[in-house]
Amino acid sequence: MNKGKWMMMVIGLSFIICHLSFSSVAAQSALSRDRRCFDQNWRFILADSAKMAKPEYNDGHWRLLNLPHDWAIEGDFSAGNPSGAGGGALPGGVGWYRKHFRISEVRRYFLEFDGVYMNSTVYVNGELVGTRPYGYSSFEYEITRYLRTGDNVIAVRVDNSDQPNSRWYSGCGIYRHVWLTETSSTRIKHWGIGVVTDVKKRRATVTVEIDKPHGSKLKPQIKHVLYDRDGRQLDSSSGQKANLKVSKSALRLWSPADPYIYKIRTQLLVGGRVMDEVWTTTAFRDFRFDAQTGFWLNGKNMKLNGVCEHHDFGCLGAALNEDALHRKLTKLKAMGCNAIRSSHNPPAPELLNMCDTMGFIVMDESFDMWRRRKTQNDYARFFDEWHERDLTDLVLRDRNHPCILMWSIGNEVLEQWSDAAADTLTLEQANLILNAGHDASTLANDHTTSVNTLLCDHLADIVRRYDTTRPITSGCNEPSPNNHLFKGKGIDIIGFNYHHEWIKDVPKNFPGRPFIMTESVSALQTTGNYMMPSDSIRKAPKQWWLPYTDPSFMCSAYDNMHASWSTTHEQNWDVVKHTPYCGGQFIWTGFDYIGEPTPYGFPARSSYFGIIDLSGQPKDVYYMYQSEWTDKPVLHLFPHWNWLEGQEIDMWCYYNNADEVELFINGKSQGVRTKSPSLGGVRGGSPYHVMWRVKFDSGEVKVVARKGGQTVGMKTIRTAGQPDHLRLTIDYNGYNNTQHPSPNTHLTFVKVEVVDRDGNLCPWAENQVFFDVSGAEIVGVDNGSQFSMERFKDNKRKAFFGRCLVVVQGHGTLTAKSIGLKQATLQL
Ligand code: GAL
Repeated sequence: MNKGKWMMMVIGLSFIICHLSFSSVAAQSALSRDRRCFDQNWRFILADSAKMAKPEYNDGHWRLLNLPHDWAIEGDFSAGNPSGAGGGALPGGVGWYRKHFRISEVRRYFLEFDGVYMNSTVYVNGELVGTRPYGYSSFEYEITRYLRTGDNVIAVRVDNSDQPNSRWYSGCGIYRHVWLTETSSTRIKHWGIGVVTDVKKRRATVTVEIDKPHGSKLKPQIKHVLYDRDGRQLDSSSGQKANLKVSKSALRLWSPADPYIYKIRTQLLVGGRVMDEVWTTTAFRDFRFDAQTGFWLNGKNMKLNGVCEHHDFGCLGAALNEDALHRKLTKLKAMGCNAIRSSHNPPAPELLNMCDTMGFIVMDESFDMWRRRKTQNDYARFFDEWHERDLTDLVLRDRNHPCILMWSIGNEVLEQWSDAAADTLTLEQANLILNAGHDASTLANDHTTSVNTLLCDHLADIVRRYDTTRPITSGCNEPSPNNHLFKGKGIDIIGFNYHHEWIKDVPKNFPGRPFIMTESVSALQTTGNYMMPSDSIRKAPKQWWLPYTDPSFMCSAYDNMHASWSTTHEQNWDVVKHTPYCGGQFIWTGFDYIGEPTPYGFPARSSYFGIIDLSGQPKDVYYMYQSEWTDKPVLHLFPHWNWLEGQEIDMWCYYNNADEVELFINGKSQGVRTKSPSLGGVRGGSPYHVMWRVKFDSGEVKVVARKGGQTVGMKTIRTAGQPDHLRLTIDYNGYNNTQHPSPNTHLTFVKVEVVDRDGNLCPWAENQVFFDVSGAEIVGVDNGSQFSMERFKDNKRKAFFGRCLVVVQGHGTLTAKSIGLKQATLQL
């Protein structure tokens, strides 16, 4: 093709694509608010130039995509990526997004970003609108004065080039939804509604802040209507501050078991015409944290059986997707988990919406650091200028969510002590030193109030400006009462990260103060890898300052491995369960996440801490919690039954609702087991699992559970033969469960297994599996390995202990193939 023709084609194509990417914002006939998802048809480039802000800049050759988007997850792992293994070893950099749109009528326009990681700068038609450093804050700009009828261009520069700036994988880009809201001049302010419910008075108090056009004398009427979940009107009222009542018969309390929600519609009316309208979700629940008896909800004493969660979705990266989020929460719910800590930053609004309606109690957390940094370029560099704004925005945005029962103003901030050593640490050292002992001289003394205590109180005061209905805590890994944070009036709930051995002293050290474990466990597990003997506990690293190496880059799937500062799952649960004044715990973590591959360094690049692995496969210990936290019958036998003949194998079983379990190998009893009354009992017995040490004999291993002499459950695992074919099963299909604000973003998660002729999982299989999908798109692949260097965005994946995962967007036919195996297809 000659150069001229080629140029013509490029220009023509750019023109067509450019026009395809134009979206038109239709004129609003109604006066009231129109909030629409603004995710579709953005242009993106991973490059940087000041010219990219300009409206006339030609972005026709940029990639066309829909938000949410994370460019880092599309990259390759590399030791050279500046985020380091702690940040997931994926790329950072500077990227630009641009969106063209038209408006036909000038009203008031507001552009809202749920989250951009990080350092975003927004331009509209070439004019600078604002910047926001913190990658987890949601923010809104009024863009009315920058707009013109006809064509408009938004340009967003995202700068995640100064690395490392996080102790975990952050993702890069506009990774949450964007919204465009159009209102009349008289409107309810952004986050301008506050609702507080009072169970005893059976009333919801609504306060409203209004934004009026400058100089306007219009005084709108403000109307509120309260509806139950089914849309039945229960009460109405009016005014800037109003009370709405629920009758005794209509009152249904919110709890994780029954997350019953109400809705309030607030309208601004002028001359009988609706100028604005906002809906708020609310609920009635009565809770308290008691220094003697722990946590109470609606008059019932219970434990917070919680997990900490980072925000990534494994192979999908940080890019928010409702199905991915719902899948996570569904798996946690089935385990019996009733609480989430948004560690260590403001979560996506959708997480809170789902927690409201699915029934999870939330600890909403603001920061991982204050003024003292943990990594070279982290938020500490913005803290002085931005903390007040970021914390205020978090509380204003989230205060109406019934799921939130406490705020956390920080995690393991170095202001707990008064030494500044951590300022000079590398990421790996900082992660480790957080858990190290600190010299007593760095703690607060009784005679003076330290700057750190004042800072803590100041942050708590910011929260209390906007919400006095919820207690404040902070994840602390200094359990001494002389921790600077505990010395002031800021902290309502003493929150320990780890240090379970200090818990017995809590009533003495913190008289009259409620207590929870804000973070716990940090056990280390790789799905499918069983390190025997299982009753010897491995600490990795042995001490926080020692390196840990093992050429396998794996941890143990038994609950027998943890970090030096932490415990096994059973050890910590035993303390929480039997300590009445401990309100509960938030286990580190529910799911594995990208980054922080303790105890290893590169090529390990994702965490070992999760109860569920990165691909969404529950690790065995999931069933320990399920057996303790739910009434569902649990009988979980592991490991698999493919070993060397005669090899000594530890078979574990988690069970509930039964008096005893008996193990059989090829029909021969290996003995009856019952759980011990306490941990570490006879021969290392446990109240949470039983174990048989047996000799491998190929065939089948079976466990039988009995109650009152009757068989109540049975599980059999058979020795798998040669890998024969692939099996595809739906792990999660969100089509009926979640609503998406933008079209075509539904996902199906498909589990892929290498099985023998009879369908038994081949637990050692590592076959490369190739995927093909017609009519839909593969958006991610994974296998749960924490050290695989394979890309997450690909159409192939190696099986890891016999399994992998493929995530498909849209409907179509999925085919999985592997050399030497029969292929499998699945209609999605
Ligand atoms: C804690 C920290 C978490 C995570 C965890 C790993 O000290 O709060 O963010 O690093 O250790 O064990």
